Amino acid sequence: MTTPPHRYQVVVLPGGQSFEAQAEQSLLKSLDEAGIYWPRSCRNGTCRTCLGKLLEGQVRYEVDWPGLSAEEKQAGCILPCVARPLSNLVLLDPLAD
Ligand code: FES
Repeated sequence: MTTPPHRYQVVVLPGGQSFEAQAEQSLLKSLDEAGIYWPRSCRNGTCRTCLGKLLEGQVRYEVDWPGLSAEEKQAGCILPCVARPLSNLVLLDPLAD
């Protein structure tokens, strides 16, 4: 018997869309699978096109040095193309402003 992949609930504000994100893939891929558009370009954590805001929850990064300063991380900025969920999350849509 195989164990199903661990999933977390993600809510995107201000629209309130919600979806399940797999712990073992990038948030960007889970956003795509949920049909939620999110800006992107490089998909490797360097260009910052996908920069968004994490309002609640925790993520880990697939790369050692994602293109975020310590201050930005502290302020809740995330790069979904290289971030994987560690908990349920609430994200702020970068196109909402
Ligand atoms: S798409 Fe380039 S940093 Fe995420």
